[in-house]
Amino acid sequence: MHRPLTIVVFGTTGDLYQNKLATALFDLFSSGFLPAKFTILGFARKPLADLEFRKFSEAAIKKRGKKINKTKLVAFLKHLEYIQGDLNSIESFKNLRLKLASNDKKNGACSNKLFYLAVPPTFYRSIFQSISKTGLSVPCATKEGDKKCTWTRILVEKPFGQDIKEAENLDKMLGKLFDESQIFRIDHYLAKEAVQNILNFRFNNGIFEPLWNNKKIEKVRIVFHENNNVSNRGAFYDDLGALRDVGQNHMLQLLALIAMDNPAQMNKKEIHAARQMILENTKFRNVLVRGQYEGYLNEKDVKGDSNTETFFRLNVSINIPRWKGVCFELESGKALANGEVFIEVYFKNINAHLTFSISSNEGVTYDAYEKVLYDAILGDQTLFVSTKEIMSEWVLITDIIKKWQKIPLVIYKKGSKGEDI
Ligand code: BG6
Repeated sequence: MHRPLTIVVFGTTGDLYQNKLATALFDLFSSGFLPAKFTILGFARKPLADLEFRKFSEAAIKKRGKKINKTKLVAFLKHLEYIQGDLNSIESFKNLRLKLASNDKKNGACSNKLFYLAVPPTFYRSIFQSISKTGLSVPCATKEGDKKCTWTRILVEKPFGQDIKEAENLDKMLGKLFDESQIFRIDHYLAKEAVQNILNFRFNNGIFEPLWNNKKIEKVRIVFHENNNVSNRGAFYDDLGALRDVGQNHMLQLLALIAMDNPAQMNKKEIHAARQMILENTKFRNVLVRGQYEGYLNEKDVKGDSNTETFFRLNVSINIPRWKGVCFELESGKALANGEVFIEVYFKNINAHLTFSISSNEGVTYDAYEKVLYDAILGDQTLFVSTKEIMSEWVLITDIIKKWQKIPLVIYKKGSKGEDI
């Protein structure tokens, strides 16, 4: 935390930076969790002067509507700089390298570097290659010995690929260019406090663990309801659909946490292995509903004849003795009556179930992004997803997508309740 830090955000004029990252970064700064010397360097195609980028970020932060400490905001904005660049052009990355080197020189020390890919996944390949080709993946050193204590890390948003083939190709490339300790694959749901509490609840008291198996549990429901529609993310969403957007990542991670064995130790290696064991044994059973909300086809940037699902309900099973015969139902949708994320665990022979409620309100999401950024700065990968987990998630999702293509879409009214679809 004594060394200067540079956070390069690729795609700063996009949705993620505007709606989540700008505020999360400001909150981190306000709470004193950023080093004294830090720079947030925006990188996007739009030509902007530093001052314009600061104004843009200020507006994004103010959008939340929460009371803001003006002095802190002014101080924060001074750390923001901008560089115009094309994500597909190596020249732009050469310029970025020069800019970073000149900033380090000004500071009189090499800074740690965090590269945040807040861009659609179609740009990942070109960014990985350019970061590597221009030598940006190697920590810099201004004097002997510096290299040892500076680091360069790369933060990758979901979705990591579109199917198992693409995810494997991307991962192979990433693995060649960077060390696994440099790669932080984000699933912001893992950083939510209520999600971390699932493990506390299960393993910090002895009451429930003896009941946590197929002898006592009949069914588990993982419900991810959203009341928002695709708003201005039509192009991005239409290529994905609900299953890839939240199923492949957030919902499968919730499934892993609710079903995993007690790790031998609560450290990154053991927790990742325990989650992975569930994910690699999760198999598709059947689809109950594939749906699309009425009016989706008229959303901005959505194809007029799109077959993309905005709702699904399907069953999976976990093929290990502990969960043999237990049905795990996953249900998610956009434009529903309520935005609520929860897990229900139904017990056999008693008319009762346990509910884990995972709030999806905005404040909680900002906190999650703060945690993602903070852990990446500290180098703690526990709440990030390992390469093996991502691959297992994609094996399952690719299988489902292959099998459900021909299932006709149910059209539902905006504001429907999940159970009515
Ligand atoms: C994102 C999805 O990963 O998660 C969005 O791309 C979804 O479509 C969002 O709305 C939900 O996250 P949260 O934290 O707002 O519940």
